[in-house]
Amino acid sequence: MGVEVTTKNLTKSFGSQNIWSDVSLTLPAGEVSVLLGPSGTGKSVFLKSLIGLLRPEEGQIIIDGTDILTCSSSELYEIRKMFGVLFQDGALFGSMNLYDNTAFPLREHTKKKESEIRQITMEKLEMVGLVGAEDKLPGEISGGMRKRAGLARALVLDPKIMLVDEPDSGLDPVRTTYTSQLLMDINAQIDCTTLIVTHNINIARTVPDNMGMLFLKHLVMFGPREVLLTSEEPVVKQFLTGSMIGPIGMSEEKDQAQMAAEAERVAGGHSDGGVDVPDEIAPQMQPTPGMPVRQGVARRKARVREMLPSLPAKAQTAILRDLEGEPAADAAYAAAGSPEAPTVVLGQGAEYQGQAQGEVPAGYEVRQPLSQDDNPTDHLPKVEDR
Ligand SMILES: Nc1ncnc2c1ncn2[C@@H]1O[C@H](COP(=O)(O)OP(=O)(O)OP(=O)(O)O)[C@@H](O)[C@H]1O
Ligand SMILES: [Mg+2]
Repeated sequence: MGVEVTTKNLTKSFGSQNIWSDVSLTLPAGEVSVLLGPSGTGKSVFLKSLIGLLRPEEGQIIIDGTDILTCSSSELYEIRKMFGVLFQDGALFGSMNLYDNTAFPLREHTKKKESEIRQITMEKLEMVGLVGAEDKLPGEISGGMRKRAGLARALVLDPKIMLVDEPDSGLDPVRTTYTSQLLMDINAQIDCTTLIVTHNINIARTVPDNMGMLFLKHLVMFGPREVLLTSEEPVVKQFLTGSMIGPIGMSEEKDQAQMAAEAERVAGGHSDGGVDVPDEIAPQMQPTPGMPVRQGVARRKARVREMLPSLPAKAQTAILRDLEGEPAADAAYAAAGSPEAPTVVLGQGAEYQGQAQGEVPAGYEVRQPLSQDDNPTDHLPKVEDR
């Protein structure tokens, strides 16, 4: 089973450049979470922090009960063995064929015999559909195949936590969906806690159990997918429709004058470039038939049911529709009063987190949250000074 990953009040800067502050969230064990955010908001930095490659200067990162920011190097070294990581650029060795790339962590970090390595490597290559291409070099294959090879390599040590940075970059929409299916199937097979970092709206709408968004150096929200997919929060809404209208501009934040000018243009008939999104939440992708049932789903049901009263009305309706069917959801929706102005009260652990910088959206009440032989990541960039 995957392990829970929690960050508390995490802050990361490079010199005088603050990347994000006060990031608190929990990736529930075995569930799939997506972290969204415009380009440059520090999604990759967050992912690298979780695995201990970058070192936030404040806060905690608790993995399976251990804070990796204060633990000893040997403890960190043990914890890093739990991770499988697919980096944004795939990070394959250009001079090694796909078989050797995939087998690399096993050869480097375990004492397994070559026959056992072969069996595991071929099994993972089969999982990602690359059997037959194992002799090819990364330069001889397509971007999608490189992604899948990176995924196979991330899987060979049976990770408890999978971190996936931009699984869609360089892929067409169909291959992106196939990759999402693969991630779902992997989650079903090994019950790994999964974090996917992306700015792909389709992935956000169809893949995760939970979703969060980084913007303006803060975590705007983190919670069950239904919360973000039904959110009235301007920045979340804008991101999920891809519209130009909203707080996100070309260089992250816009000023009032630009927002007013754009709103005027759209009022005059100029397209905002976004796509209309139906009120109904798209169905979540399932594992391919024949795969094991995702164990995280059952655990999540109990979890979201417990937090239901603290969620906005629209999110409650969407969750109930999934858990109990249409009539229960409609009754809850009617009973919730004005769904446009929900009052959100945070429970323990801040599952739903308010807008950054004190800008709480109208109607929301937000409380602030409480020997190296075995290292599977040795071939990755080195950890910042500890
Ligand atoms: N090692 C580093 N040293 C200094 N600055 C860095 C380092 N890594 C990232 N940054 C800076 O941190 C910021 C966030 O970068 P990051 O790569 O995390 O963004 P991102 O959200 O993943 O963007 P994208 O969606 O384009 O991948 C950027 O301004 C980047 O220049
Ligand atoms: Mg990135």
